[in-house]
Amino acid sequence: MKLANAGIKTLPRHVAIIMDGNGTWAKKRGLPRNFGHRQGARALKNVVLFASKIGIKYLTVFAFSTENWSRPREEVDYLMKLPAEFMRANETDIHKHNIRFACIGDRSRLPEDLQKTIDKYEKETAENDGMIFIVALNYGGKADIIQAVNRVIDEGVAEVDEEKFERYLYTKDMPDVDLLIRTSGQKRISNFLLWKLSYSELYFTKTLWPDFNKTQFLKALKEYSNRDRRYGGIK
Ligand code: FPP
Repeated sequence: MKLANAGIKTLPRHVAIIMDGNGTWAKKRGLPRNFGHRQGARALKNVVLFASKIGIKYLTVFAFSTENWSRPREEVDYLMKLPAEFMRANETDIHKHNIRFACIGDRSRLPEDLQKTIDKYEKETAENDGMIFIVALNYGGKADIIQAVNRVIDEGVAEVDEEKFERYLYTKDMPDVDLLIRTSGQKRISNFLLWKLSYSELYFTKTLWPDFNKTQFLKALKEYSNRDRRYGGIK
């Protein structure tokens, strides 16, 4: 795949995605919401493998927010089942692509079997040195900052600067997000990676997440590569 032929000159190192629109996708077809999530997991598989193939180094996806617990029980249960199913179904491909798996968020509230599966896949893929695929589960940007502050206090640290503080965040091992993609037409951050999004380029598309594919991804990357990043400076 020649990225230059697709008009892509520079690749973002870290892409984050808010995978929105699963429910709408299902509703449009008269199907239960969980069918939309299942289809969303299929779209995710293709995006993960494609991102790894073209050389994205970090891909972080929002799979369950600290606010998603307020959804109907049946939907929450399904969303708690999907990540482990996803890992099991795609284990071979993930290893073949040399992808490392990681999870961010407060794991203590996740079902125990999911916690075990996460630990297992983090350990089993720890030596893979290709793309790092990060799933945010029971994650909230504000909750992340608060847990970091509390740990700073617990450790009796008197003062922090940005660099020191970052080390307490769930996101400590990743660079700032270069490109945030949100599907389904909403233009919000929705309490995702607040700290790491401070200078990200934002890309919004009306495409519903289950319909998001390679072509859509390349379109987002092309737009990113044409953006003029200034980080508060001047050109
Ligand atoms: C938001 O769409 C989507 C979610 C809260 C869940 C995202 C989960 C997946 C894509 C499943 C795959 C994840 C893994 C890690 C295997 P929505 O349901 O709020 O859509 P709506 O706004 O159309 O109702």
